[in-house]
Amino acid sequence: MAPEIMKGLKDVYLDTTESSFIDGQEGKLLYRGYNIHDLAEKSTFEEVIYLLLYGNLPSKEQLAEFDVHLKANRRIPDEVIQVLELVKNSHPMDALRTGISAMSAFDPEVTDNSVDATIRKGIRLTAMGPTIVAAHHRLRQGLEPVAPNPDLNHAGNFLYMLFGEVPDQETTNLLDVDFILHAEHGANASAFGARVAASTISDLHSAVVTGVGVLKGPAHGGAAEEVMKMALEIGQPENAEEYCRNILDNGGRIMGFGHRVYKAEDPRARHLRDRSRALGEKLGEPRWFQILNYVEEEVMVRYRSRGIFVNVDFFAGSIYYLLDIPDDLFISIFALGRIPGWTLQCAEQYDDNILIRPLLEYSGEMDLEYVPIEQR
Ligand code: ACO
Repeated sequence: MAPEIMKGLKDVYLDTTESSFIDGQEGKLLYRGYNIHDLAEKSTFEEVIYLLLYGNLPSKEQLAEFDVHLKANRRIPDEVIQVLELVKNSHPMDALRTGISAMSAFDPEVTDNSVDATIRKGIRLTAMGPTIVAAHHRLRQGLEPVAPNPDLNHAGNFLYMLFGEVPDQETTNLLDVDFILHAEHGANASAFGARVAASTISDLHSAVVTGVGVLKGPAHGGAAEEVMKMALEIGQPENAEEYCRNILDNGGRIMGFGHRVYKAEDPRARHLRDRSRALGEKLGEPRWFQILNYVEEEVMVRYRSRGIFVNVDFFAGSIYYLLDIPDDLFISIFALGRIPGWTLQCAEQYDDNILIRPLLEYSGEMDLEYVPIEQR
C-alpha cells in the first residue's frame, strides 16, 4: 500500500517544545507562555532573549548582568573582518552565513553540544550577529567597520554600527520591537533546518548557518524585501489594484500574505502596521503605508475567507525603507532577531535528541539494466 505523503510536512507535529505556542486559527503567539502583544509593547529584545534562553523573565539584577554579558560579546575578531572583506560583494545574508561560519574557528566551545554550552554560544552569536552584518555593510561601501558602542542597547548599537551615527530613541525602539517580533516562531522552515542540523549532533554554529540559509528564501524571510519592491513598483495607491490583479490573475502571489500556520491575521503584523503608518506620517512619506493599506484593505480583503491575511513581513519592509536601510539588508535583520529562537530550538533538540530523518516515496523507474557507456 502506498504510504500517505505529508507533502511539505504540512500539519505534521515533529516534537514538543517549550519555546513558543502558535494558534493559527485564532492568530495567537506566545513566547514561553507570554503573549507577543505584551512583549512587543512592554518588553525589550534583551529581556526577550533572556526569556527565551532561560525560560523566565529576568529580575532587574539578572537583566543588568545579562546585558553586560551581551555587550561584552559584541566584538568580532579581525580575522572575521578580513573574511567579510573577501566576500564583501556577496548578499548580506550570504555574508552573515559566512561570518557565523568563520566565528566557529574562534569559539572555544564550538564542539560542546551540551545544553548549557549551546545557550552560551547562542548568546555570543546573538551578540555578535549585528557586528557581522554591519561590518559587511560598511566594507562593501569601502568604509571602515564601526566598533560596537557599549552605551547603546542591542538595536541602537546595530543602527550605530551600520550608519556610524547614534540613532534617536524612537528609531532604536522601532528596531527593538522588530527584533522582538522576529525572535521565535515554532517549527518554521529555518528553525526546522537548524533542528535537522542539531539532530545529527552537529554544532550550533552549523545549525545557525543552516537557519540563515533556509531563512533567505522569499517564501520565508525574503518576503519583506519583495513587499517593498512591490510598493515601489506600484508607486501610487491608485495603481495597486491593477498591479496586484496582474499578479494574481497569472497565478502569482502577493508577498507578505499567507502563512503555513496562521489562517487568521499574523499577530505580529499589527505592531508593524501601526508603526509603519506612524513613521510614514512623521517623515512626511505616508505614501508607502497608503499603498500597503490599499493592497491589504481593497485587494487582498477578498482572500481573507480563504485564510490568507498579512504576515509579519508585510509592513516590516516599509519601516526599514523609511529608516534608510537598504533593501538587501531586510532579511538579515530578521535573521539577527531569530538567532535566540534557533538557539533555543537546537538546545531542545540536543536535550532530547532523535535524528530527524523522514522518508521519501520512490517514484522513479526500477531495476533498469546498466548499459556500458560505449553502447549508449
Ligand atoms: N498571495 C496569493 N495567494 C496565496 C498567497 C499569497 N501570498 N499565499 C497563499 N496563496 C494561495 C495559494 O495560491 C494557494 O491557492 P490554491 O489552493 O488555489 O492553489 C493557497 O493559498 C494555499 O497556498 P500554499 O502555498 O499551499 O500554502 P502554504 O502554507 O504552503 O504557503 C506561504 C505559505 C509559502 C507563506 C505562502 O502563503 C506564500 O507564498 N506567501 C507569500 C510569501 C510570504 O509572504 N512569505 C513570508 C511568510 S511569513 C514568514 O516566513 C516570516
